[in-house]
Amino acid sequence: MVSQKQLKGPDVFGRTFAADEKSLLAIASRLEARAKHRFFQKVVDEYVNALELKGHESVLDLGCGTGAIARMIASRDDCKERITAIDISPYLVETGKRLASEEGLSHKIDFLTGDAHSIIELQGQFDVLIMHTLVSHVVDPVTVLQEARRLLRPGGRLVIFDGDFDSLTYATDAPDGGAETDRLQAIAGHTQGRVMRLMPRLLSDQGFSLEWSRAYVAADIGRADFWSSTLPALRVLLPSSGVMSELEASEYVDKLESASSSNTFFASCNFYTMIARGTIWD
Ligand SMILES: C[S@@+](CC[C@H](N)C(=O)[O-])C[C@H]1O[C@@H](n2cnc3c(N)ncnc32)[C@H](O)[C@@H]1O
Repeated sequence: MVSQKQLKGPDVFGRTFAADEKSLLAIASRLEARAKHRFFQKVVDEYVNALELKGHESVLDLGCGTGAIARMIASRDDCKERITAIDISPYLVETGKRLASEEGLSHKIDFLTGDAHSIIELQGQFDVLIMHTLVSHVVDPVTVLQEARRLLRPGGRLVIFDGDFDSLTYATDAPDGGAETDRLQAIAGHTQGRVMRLMPRLLSDQGFSLEWSRAYVAADIGRADFWSSTLPALRVLLPSSGVMSELEASEYVDKLESASSSNTFFASCNFYTMIARGTIWD
């Protein structure tokens, strides 16, 4: 059986089940900050609006992290049922429970710990399954899609939102313009950097019919904005993934922050949402 524990490579978000507390704190802060940014709020609003929920649907947020997306959806008027939120990291799940309680949303979200490659006990229970930046971190996206089909009720819908991390770039003043540090960032923060390009075919192969898609560019030009909350996280996560020493990460981030202060920052990444309906059942 495939398990996230088989992960090879440095992706810190794919190893949250075994990460140290300093890394988990940096991950939790970044997840919370980006969820509050208008870009992510727009993305979530657009895909939830596209679902045209009637209010009775059962929703699963798989790879929920701190539950920021589950909380965003639970606060909407068109989501009346309890949301189930699952993550592989007990630390992030506990953080999610605490934040939901602080926001008065405990009664709307059930948090559980589990591996997206096998969530056997909840099969056939969901009308909507959301993977918001999960699939770029998993060991085996095909197994995760097969599991998604089993978790959904017949005709249920899968929402996948993720980055195309081969397009992620932070320009620097290095002779290569930042190409090598981009490569290190891509492997330090993701396992499946190109998976969204393959997704239409993977969905079709696994019995899903693609119904809706959107493309986004998260680009900060001049000053860091969406990417600004990533910079402090990089100081911790690049060394903890093993791709840079603490000193190298600190010098790299200092330069990015100084570029932002002098209005010469450039960072960009493409993101995509796809909504697909399960069509084939065993
Ligand atoms: C980039 S974070 C996204 C968190 C959340 N969806 C959000 O957007 O705020 C990726 C999350 O996937 C979780 N994760 C990675 N592999 C997983 C797996 N196999 N099963 C469940 N969760 C997993 C990590 O623990 C992490 O919380």
